[in-house]
Amino acid sequence: MKTKAMDGVTVVSHPLVQHKLTIMRRKETSTASFRELLREISTLLCYEVTRDLPLEPVEIETPVARSAGVRLEGKKLVLAPILRAGMGLLDGMLELIPAARVAHIGLYRDPETLVAFEYYFKAPEDIADRLVVVIDPMLATANTAVAAIDRFKERGVRNLRFVCLVASPEGIERLRAHHPEVPIWTASIDERLNEHGYIVPGLGDAGDRLYGTR
Ligand code: URA
Repeated sequence: MKTKAMDGVTVVSHPLVQHKLTIMRRKETSTASFRELLREISTLLCYEVTRDLPLEPVEIETPVARSAGVRLEGKKLVLAPILRAGMGLLDGMLELIPAARVAHIGLYRDPETLVAFEYYFKAPEDIADRLVVVIDPMLATANTAVAAIDRFKERGVRNLRFVCLVASPEGIERLRAHHPEVPIWTASIDERLNEHGYIVPGLGDAGDRLYGTR
């Protein structure tokens, strides 16, 4: 799959991703189509974010002969959706990694100040020993992404990745500044943030479009 890499940020430029993202951006796209497209894109993003996962050798027996195979090394990874829009990326990723664990983190972005407040956190007890992939469709101010990663680090997690659908240049800069060792995967880096903290051109409020709440 073709990707463009830059200083800790991978833009997944695969034609299927870009085609689907353009449909998602259109204001006339229905809630049902938006949700389905996000699920489809999430499997493609998942493929990219797991591309370099370490493997270990394993001996197997096929119906014909003994053979050398491989399996994913280490403990099962954790997918960590930031509620609520992050849930839109979860099911497609779980299709590819059905044994993954899930950590839910509820962060509310105050509409006036854009500051993130945590209202829910539930994660596997041994999360510190696992790779945690934080997922949220929109990396806008990065306030929620920074707060989520802060929280996982407090729980001892050292191996983190961040996946989004659309990022702002400001959000990338802020996330890289706070957590420079956390690599980012996105389908697009858009032009800018507007005065309300929305990504331009973006796709509007991902949570509202996903759940039809506005
Ligand atoms: N959250 C969204 O859902 N959309 C934006 O453009 C910014 C933050």
